[in-house]
Amino acid sequence: MKTLKFENGDQMDAIGLGTWKSEKGEVAKAVKVALNNGYKHIDCAATYGNEAEVGEAFAEVFGKGDIRREDVWVTSKLWNNAHKKEDVIPALKQTLKDLQLDYLDLYLIHWPVAFKPEVSFPEKADDFLSLEEVPLIETWKEMVKAKEQGLVKHIGVSNFSIEKLEELMKDTDHAPEMNQVELHPYLQQDKLLEFCSKNGINVTAYSPLGSGDRSDEMKADNEPSLLENPVINKIAKKHGASAGQILIKWSEQRGTAVIPKSTNEGRIKENLQSAGFQLDEEDLKQIADLDDHFRYVTGKFFEMEGNSYENIYND
Ligand code: A2P
Repeated sequence: MKTLKFENGDQMDAIGLGTWKSEKGEVAKAVKVALNNGYKHIDCAATYGNEAEVGEAFAEVFGKGDIRREDVWVTSKLWNNAHKKEDVIPALKQTLKDLQLDYLDLYLIHWPVAFKPEVSFPEKADDFLSLEEVPLIETWKEMVKAKEQGLVKHIGVSNFSIEKLEELMKDTDHAPEMNQVELHPYLQQDKLLEFCSKNGINVTAYSPLGSGDRSDEMKADNEPSLLENPVINKIAKKHGASAGQILIKWSEQRGTAVIPKSTNEGRIKENLQSAGFQLDEEDLKQIADLDDHFRYVTGKFFEMEGNSYENIYND
């Protein structure tokens, strides 16, 4: 499998286990199955509501001693209600406590969107703080402090457009080391990838399989299915692979990390095996033609009349 490299020489396995939407009763088992079957990269976030269960799995697996903490890459993300400077490090410490870890490999600002501290998920415009009230650079400076304090090894962002990255980078010497964004054949984001590559920012692809297990409120009517796409399935047949494996391989082969979510033992194993074959030029050309700039996670749930957020992705 490919690895992503960081400036200090650290390396992250390209294929990791996603835990967004993994239910509390299932996520610990999923993480144990993953770690015991070769995954060395687990992607978490405070807002997924399941970090304490993920932490139980870490404690059990690392406690046994066959797999060492330092051989696994753990990412988590700062939720939108902890962007104020006094809230960043306490939120990180809560995540560390929940995950039963004393450091993270990577910590990301989850969205370029701020809520009031008491708001978990906004229902009205007044639940937000504007980026004038809590500038991203203020949050970022605390992320830098967290790194300096050794609480995290690397820092980055998620859901940032080129414009948002440029805005942040002009005010800091510490460029983000990662941008985690939605990426798959329907949303290939070539320009963002090129910008990140030029600026030494690694990229992680989320929702690589189309996140079909999102709640109905998050779904558009008649969303296109990635897993059922005929081109993807034709390529899968040709390689004796599953559609999921083609989608994961496509991201890995492109040089991004990719974090398919599964709580199913067979699919967790199958997804890691995506690294075991190569897509050829013809496959890549056919997949390139599938790009239609379609987003599953539109960010529209953060755009409310009367708040200052619109067109979060600048597209
Ligand atoms: P499950 O957890 O039952 O395996 P994404 O990573 O884009 O968010 O997609 C996650 C969704 O894709 C979940 O519904 C997950 O279901 C499903 N899934 C995960 N791996 C595969 C696979 N190899 N083939 C088909 N569906 C998969």
